[in-house]
Amino acid sequence: MSLTPIGAPRHKITTASLREKKLQHEPITCLTAYDYSSARLVDEAGINMVLVGDSLAMTMLGHENTLSVTVDEMLHHVKAVRRGVKDALLIADMPYGSYHVDAKDAVRNATRFVKEGGAEIVKMEGGEKRADLVRQIIDAEIPVAGHIGLTPQSLNRMGGFKVQGKTLTDIEQLMRDATALDRAGVACIFLEGIPREVADLITSEVSAPTIGIGAGPGCDGQVLVFHDILNLTFGPPAKFVRRYGDAAAEITHAVHAFRADVISRQYPADNESYHLPPETRQALETLLERKRMMRGRKQITAVD
Ligand code: KIV
Repeated sequence: MSLTPIGAPRHKITTASLREKKLQHEPITCLTAYDYSSARLVDEAGINMVLVGDSLAMTMLGHENTLSVTVDEMLHHVKAVRRGVKDALLIADMPYGSYHVDAKDAVRNATRFVKEGGAEIVKMEGGEKRADLVRQIIDAEIPVAGHIGLTPQSLNRMGGFKVQGKTLTDIEQLMRDATALDRAGVACIFLEGIPREVADLITSEVSAPTIGIGAGPGCDGQVLVFHDILNLTFGPPAKFVRRYGDAAAEITHAVHAFRADVISRQYPADNESYHLPPETRQALETLLERKRMMRGRKQITAVD
């Protein structure tokens, strides 16, 4: 296995690099990002893929689930992320409703993510039933990522965010979903919320790299949500989330400190203030002095 050392020269990740990594058994890294600054940090840390997930409906916009986010809202974030990403492969999530009406509409929406947003891949949820659509989007020269298992856009049909693929029937369906997407030519398949044994099976059966989230260690790569790894989600994390930092604590500490400094007039200090150039300062003092003298003279005249 060839692991790129931290700090080594990096290069642009493409869909071909993902396949190569699968062949070389080199783990693929993916994180979500939703704005310029987080995208830059993720990209500069050498993460292979940056996903502008529709999870931004919750993490950035405060919605209960992903269903209401629109193509225009997604595009707003994809454009910002595009400006922050250099080497990573940029994936944009197609939101609910943007590929469920008809194929023409779906291809048009996918095209917008590439033309307006600068995305390199679009991601759609669903397996077998999306295979024809995947082909049509690829025919429009747009690489597609599949997403099966716990697909959050199927929330109402699933009756909640539940681990999928726990019965033999469900496992067979997931296998059909994965192979149909693979045959349709997807660049990779996201596997969400399924038992690790099922993810292992899918990973060994398909040529497309699998990217797991709550799908165990056997996938070709792993993705997590930026806000989850940094404790920015205001609730208990899912079982598969590992916290790598506590940005909530850092931010809270900084905000409290700022508030206290303003209230106690400790902020801003003199060295955090702008100053006049010495000649202007001198001229201003002279002017003010003259005004004071004139005011004094007027007062004497008034008393007289
Ligand atoms: O929207 C998202 O963040 C996702 C990942 C969880 C895979 O689809």
